[in-house]
Amino acid sequence: MNRKEFIITSSIAAFSLSTFGKVIENENNNFNGDCTTTDDILGPFYRKNAPLRDNLIFEGLAGNRITVNGTVYTDDCKTPLSNALVEIWHCNANGDYDNKSSKMLHRAGWVTNKNGEYSFKTILPGKYLNGKLYRPSHIHFRITAEGHKELISQIYFAGDPHITEDPWASQAKAVHRILPVSPIDIDGSLAIKFDIYLEKT
Ligand SMILES: [Fe+2]
Repeated sequence: MNRKEFIITSSIAAFSLSTFGKVIENENNNFNGDCTTTDDILGPFYRKNAPLRDNLIFEGLAGNRITVNGTVYTDDCKTPLSNALVEIWHCNANGDYDNKSSKMLHRAGWVTNKNGEYSFKTILPGKYLNGKLYRPSHIHFRITAEGHKELISQIYFAGDPHITEDPWASQAKAVHRILPVSPIDIDGSLAIKFDIYLEKT
């Protein structure tokens, strides 16, 4: 092969990879996996088989009401995933988890609808000590969906002063999981949106 042929062959190979290969997926130049939601620690308070419910509010419950909602996507960053199980768990307004009761308070699972959406009504969690430091307010997530890797993660709330010293919330990979809380209607109801991007198995 002379030099000219080599250049032509090489450029065809490069062209093929980017045009027909699996690497580039999206018209807006996202690569598969670019959007994948990062993981976080499971923590010691996960309990299996949380009740399937989208409303975690009960009479007498203390704490600011909040709706946590979003869409679960596959790793092309745009296709919603229906039938994904989204589990959440968090502490109450005093920073305590329900680790024993059969009511499994502040714990729930919900399956995404045909548009990949999930939604929970709950409260903004309080804070608890991790050694000498308070962990920032957070909600734990576990997401499972057929054909995708299990994701265990956490969300945090923008402006929380305990984020910067927390060993997990302060990590670079957590930056897209520190989310703004928005007032969504005239009653002052609060909402937080967390879209989740899973990785394929
Ligand atoms: Fe926790």
